[in-house]
Amino acid sequence: MPAVIEIIQADITTLSVDAIVNAANNTLLGGGGVDGAIHRVAGPELVRECAALQGCETGDAKISGGYGLPARHVIHTVGPVWKDGAHGEPKLLESSYRRCFEVAHQHGLKSIAFPAISAGVYGYPIGEAAVVALAAALEAINLYPELKRVVFVQFSEGAQQVYREAATRLGIPYTT
Ligand code: AR6
Repeated sequence: MPAVIEIIQADITTLSVDAIVNAANNTLLGGGGVDGAIHRVAGPELVRECAALQGCETGDAKISGGYGLPARHVIHTVGPVWKDGAHGEPKLLESSYRRCFEVAHQHGLKSIAFPAISAGVYGYPIGEAAVVALAAALEAINLYPELKRVVFVQFSEGAQQVYREAATRLGIPYTT
């Protein structure tokens, strides 16, 4: 059975999946937004493991344990800071998603949940970010047969609607 793409409104730190993705910064030592929320729930052991990972390049991803989270792992990625879209932002965001799926595959993970990487503090327009995210999920589902669930998690009803419209436009089936 092909993987299911879910578009839901939730706090990503509550999800029991193999991995949740963290929209981190290059230090991997925590921050605001979803990064802050994940570290708060995971507890201090997460930052200790992250320190040993020695940072992360923009467009790359690294995996850690989930500690106090219901998720077994956290995949930390660093999306691009949006300037105007002409500074390589789409390629870097694509790379972030691709690397998350690669790392998940290397660890045999079957379910993964993403926030809207770069679409908060980093300023990436949500509609364009949603298209990149959904296209990457489609690619990964075709590449990795073990992948059963890809969950796109939004905090707000508005952002969730943007994802749903993008999925419909791209002809990508999803559940809610
Ligand atoms: N669950 C789901 N989505 C959330 C949650 C949550 N608990 N909290 C926020 N979001 P952001 P970025 C949404 O700013 O743009 C940090 O300081 C949020 O509404 O967390 O990649 C890092 O350390 C938005 O749609 O990540 C970096 O310095 C999305 O998650 C920087 O922010 C991403 O917003 C990264 O910025």
